[in-house]
Formats: sequence, structure tokens, C-alpha cells
Amino acid sequence: MGAVVIILSYLLGSISFSILVAKKIAKIDIRQHGSGNAGATNTLRVLGKGPGIAVLLLDAAKGAIAVGVAHWLTGGNDWVIVLSGIAAILGHNWPVFFGFRGGKGVATTIGTLLALTPVPALIAVVVTVAVIAVTRYVSLGSLVFFTLIPVILIITGASLAYIIGTLIIAALGYIRHAENIKRLLQGTERKLGQSKR
Ligand code: G3P
Repeated sequence: MGAVVIILSYLLGSISFSILVAKKIAKIDIRQHGSGNAGATNTLRVLGKGPGIAVLLLDAAKGAIAVGVAHWLTGGNDWVIVLSGIAAILGHNWPVFFGFRGGKGVATTIGTLLALTPVPALIAVVVTVAVIAVTRYVSLGSLVFFTLIPVILIITGASLAYIIGTLIIAALGYIRHAENIKRLLQGTERKLGQSKR
């Protein structure tokens, strides 16, 4: 049962809403516009607020649903639940339905963690929003989010599955943001609301 839930979570994560929404409303491949990322931030950048928020919510829902279904079907097996969340994020980043060229996993990670560990995730979301509001760098806020979650879980003595799982999620987030990190260090990262190119 565990393996089936994890595979289904990967398939759910592979439904890339930024690609679907951009294709539907603008007949474009979002991966050829803006930063080239298949995610909510780039949808906001290229298509505006409405589509950006819709993609954020839909991509987050994938993670939350994967965790919720895993919880329901396994009766609360920490490892299967955590691995299902990771599988949804892997699907989002490397989607089987879209040539394995997906996003950076931020929205799906937020949904996964809000369902997995709501209070630490909410605290991290609040800090992340503050970082983005002050710096205007979504990528920096995302990196703060990825980092904060395992730190909070270690401090509060969460289960080993949750700590290891969120460390893996953070590592995935850092790997997917490698180019953003380079640009942040060089001072060339796009700020929120900055031009499309
Ligand atoms: O949503 C991912 C975000 O952290 C960065 O996205 O498009 O600016 O590379 P982007």
C-alpha cells in the first residue's frame, strides 16, 4: 500500500499547473518565458496576479492532498506520509507528464508542509512572506522557508521521519534554486514586480 500511495503522489505532483494554466489562457509554454521556471512566481511574472495565485494554490494543493491521502490510507505511518510529500515535490520538479522539466517545488513544498506539520509550516510561511516583502526576492524567501522547517522540527523534537524528510526537501529546494543562489550572490536576481525578462 505504501509504495502505491507514494507512486500516486508522484503522479499527482507531476500535474504542473503553471504549464497547464499558461497553455490554457495564453497558449504559451511558461518554460519559454520569464525565468523559464514552471512555477507560481514565473506565472505571476509572465501572466499576472490572478493566474499566479491560482497556480500557487493548485500546486500547494498537490502536496497537501498527497500528505492527506497518505495519512488516511496508512493510518498515520510517518515514513509513508513524509515520502508521499517528497514524491509530490519530485513530481512537481521532474514531471513525468511534461518531459521531466518542471518547477522548483516551492508551492508544493508549502502545501506538503502545511499538511504535514501545520504550526512550524505556518511560522515559516510568515517569516518567508516577511523576507519577500522586505527584499522583494521570492527565491530568497523560498530558501529561508526550506531552511527554517527542519531547524524548527529539530528544535521542537519532531519525529526522525519528519526531520530527515524535511532535510531532504530542503536539499531538493537548494538544488533547484542553484541558479537563483548564483544570481542572488551576483546581485542579478529578479525582484518581485521586475520586468519579465
Ligand atoms: O517559485 C520559485 C521561486 O523561488 C523562484 O522562481 O521564477 O524567480 O526562478 P523564479
